[in-house]
Parts: sequence; C-alpha cells; structure tokens
Amino acid sequence: VSTPVLWTTVSVARAGLARRTASARPLVLVPTMGDLHDGHLALVRAGRELGDVVVSIFVNPTQFAPGEDFERYPRRLQEDLEQLAPLGVQAVFAPTVEEMYPRGESTRVEVHGIGDPLCGRHRPGHFVGVSTVCTKLFVILRPRIAVFGQKDAQQCLLLHRLVRDLRLDLDLVFVPTVRERDGLAMSSRNRYLRGAEREAATVLSRALAAGRGALEEGEREVAGIESVVAAQLRRGGADVDYAELRSVPDLDHPARAAGRMLLAVAAHVGKARLIDNLCVQVEDLTVREAPLLDEHTPAAVRARWGVADEEGKESTT
Ligand code: PAF
Repeated sequence: VSTPVLWTTVSVARAGLARRTASARPLVLVPTMGDLHDGHLALVRAGRELGDVVVSIFVNPTQFAPGEDFERYPRRLQEDLEQLAPLGVQAVFAPTVEEMYPRGESTRVEVHGIGDPLCGRHRPGHFVGVSTVCTKLFVILRPRIAVFGQKDAQQCLLLHRLVRDLRLDLDLVFVPTVRERDGLAMSSRNRYLRGAEREAATVLSRALAAGRGALEEGEREVAGIESVVAAQLRRGGADVDYAELRSVPDLDHPARAAGRMLLAVAAHVGKARLIDNLCVQVEDLTVREAPLLDEHTPAAVRARWGVADEEGKESTT
C-alpha cells in the first residue's frame, strides 16, 4: 500500500507521463472532483482492470452556476489520497484552478443540444464547464480510456458525443451507479443531508422505482409516467427540478416510451440538490433495466481491449 504520486501541475503530469514505457498498459483516466466515496472507488476499480489509472481531483469552477455550492464543495485531498492508496493507482492529478484556467483564458468547449434539457435547464453553463474541463483533462493527460459514473447519465451522453465529434482516440466506460443499502445513489452531496433528510432522500430511488412500475404495468405515455414519478417525489417532501423520461442517446422527449429510455430525476432535499436515474429498454410488452450505452459498459470495453473478464477468461465478443 503506497500513497499515489501526486501531480499538481500540467508540466509535472506531462513529465510523469513521458516516463511511461511504450509497452505500458493503456492509460485510464478517472476524472473526479474529489471527496471520494465508494461510487468513485468503483470507477477506479473498473479502470484498474483496463490499464494504469490516473485519478484527477479538481473541483471545476466553470461547471458551477452562480449561487451553487462551489465554495462549500467538500475538498479533502489527504483523505482522498489515503483512500486511493490500496487501489494501486499510478498517480493523482490535482491541479489548482490557475493551472487549469490560466490567467486571461477564454476558451470553452460546447456540445450543442444534448446539454440543454434536464440539468442543463436548471444549471446554466454547467455542461459547458464539464465539456471544457474534460477536454482539458483529455488533452493534458492523453488517456486511451476514461471512466465515468452512470449516475451522471446526461454527462456521460454529452461526453460520448464530444469524443465522437472531436474524433478523440478515447474509449469511454460508464459504470453502473453505486447505491447505499437503502437505495440512495452515492454522491458527495449526500454530505449536505442533515438528520431526517438522509432518510427522506431515498425518495429519489423510490420515485424511479414507481416510474418503472408504471412502465411494467403497460403505461407508455411519457407524460403519465413522469407525473407518477414527480408525484412520488413531492409526496416524499422533495422540491422537484425535473422528473423526465427521455430517449437515449439523444435525450429527445417523445410522447410514447419505446426503445432505450432514461428516466431521470433531480430534486432538492434540504440543502442538497440530488440527481438519480434509471435506464430501461422498453418494448411493447416488456421493460428491463439496461446500460446507458451497451458498447460502453465495463464488460464491453474489457472485451474491446482483450482484457480477461472476472472469471479469468479472455473476453471474445
Ligand atoms: O462527474 C464529475 O465529478 C465532474 O463533472 C467531472 C467529470 C469530474 C468534471 O469536473
């Protein structure tokens, strides 16, 4: 067990990467904003199976809208490094704001369309901040693989589009959401929940289950399913930003549910703004939980990279 190497500047990171040998395993980036929990550690473990992992820890100011929690977002670098120590990551890239956004900078990366609905509507500028910082991380660290959590499903779809549009030589992995025992999706913002709010926050996963229940009973009208979910959130005392059922991968808003669909919710519980989602494959008579994008599951990416799966066999799809 050894604390990972810490890179705090772009030049030190580049020098560290230059020392990698040509035969090294693929470089895998796990971008985070720190305050690591088991959800992040699942991303790191998925990354470790694929190659040498660099974790970035950077609370990115440009993805916080005015009045959001940028200032009070938890920053716990030392604890994060300790948590990563047993996982065998190559390095942690934890730059300052000035390092990522040098004085006088004025460049942004914008993916049109897909960042507009859902969180984009409630967090102006958020996705421009996300696509800008991720592009910077991809350019600075030049990973071959990058791992993200499916809890941020809209972010995953946006980055999928960005990688495709910019023709980046980068394979994305989307890891299923890690939940507490009572269903609450793990998030650094769960720290903001006080007393009874912690239990109240389970209403997000319960509301998603109610939406899924409606689909299983044969409801296909998107508006009907959304109202079931929103009503459950409100009954649970949450202040709803949105409860929407949209198509994957384009996040269109059809009148009827069919094919791969994302049921996504965002709601305030106490001082915490929480998001959660459920991805389902909707057929005429059946509904099943499904990955966001089949070709970006950890198993699919392992198969693409010829990495032995959990049973120790080489995957061959
Ligand atoms: O998902 C996050 O934690 C952030 O949006 C990311 C991808 C690290 C970019 O700042």
